[in-house]
Amino acid sequence: MVLIDGKAIAEDIRRELKEKVDSVRKQHAKVPGLVTIIVGDNPASRLYVNMKSKACNEIGMMSKIEELSADISEEELLQKVKQYNNNTEYHGILVQLPLPKHINEDRVIESISVSKDVDGFHPVNTGNLMIGKDTFYPCTPYGIKELLKRYDIETKGKHVVVVGRSNIVGKPIANMMLQKKEGANSVVTVCHSAANNLSVYTKQADILIAAIGKANFITEDMVKDGVVVIDVGINRIEDPATKSGYRVVGDVDFENVAKKASYITPVPKGVGPMTIAMLLVNTFEAFTKIEKV
Ligand code: GUN
Repeated sequence: MVLIDGKAIAEDIRRELKEKVDSVRKQHAKVPGLVTIIVGDNPASRLYVNMKSKACNEIGMMSKIEELSADISEEELLQKVKQYNNNTEYHGILVQLPLPKHINEDRVIESISVSKDVDGFHPVNTGNLMIGKDTFYPCTPYGIKELLKRYDIETKGKHVVVVGRSNIVGKPIANMMLQKKEGANSVVTVCHSAANNLSVYTKQADILIAAIGKANFITEDMVKDGVVVIDVGINRIEDPATKSGYRVVGDVDFENVAKKASYITPVPKGVGPMTIAMLLVNTFEAFTKIEKV
């Protein structure tokens, strides 16, 4: 069994990007810039935004956190996004979700310039992804694809079974793996919580992608020998033995499923660190396209 080291791969990607950023700075006297917009003071969102900003700075990109009050109106937020659409210093715009209830998330996402949508959430980008056109891949699915690539895991003709159908992970990764492209070209099944008998599907997986949001949901009896397991789950469970009183586990019962797997991602240090690494990749990509370098 091979343990897929997402943390190490994410570090490799960040190191590679730092070199690229250094090089464009020298050649063009410009660097990529990312603005993250956070509305309100949700602690988890704040933590994520700080991590994203720090990661940018560490590789020499410019970053800014735009902190907006929880009672900002939708119109004001749309105006802010528009301002950054027109600001040439910033090549990527990320609006941290969730937004307060009085704001229509779809309207906000649709207001982001398609060429600066480094989250890949704009409907034009999701549509382009579906039809195999140039797009920004959403960061977590992009991270999964990159892990499979860097571990030389064959995807062509393989049966990828995705458990979960969210717009952020399940739907995009299913569409990405379906494309007739390098690192994809798979046969894809998407199943979810409404399935009558989920294990009928999961047992057929050559590559199983668990993104259902339930702790230790995928058990040993649900997979076949030799399966490649990608665990996207981040679930807190109570654990009195730890200082914080909880620990983080994935959607996969790691200890037992690992015995049957050929490759498996741990939680933490599996898919998680890849999300921010791929956000940086997307921001660099937005920069090169906008600046034509
Ligand atoms: N909230 C949770 N995950 C994400 C993400 O990937 N992007 C944004 N913008 N918000 C999130």
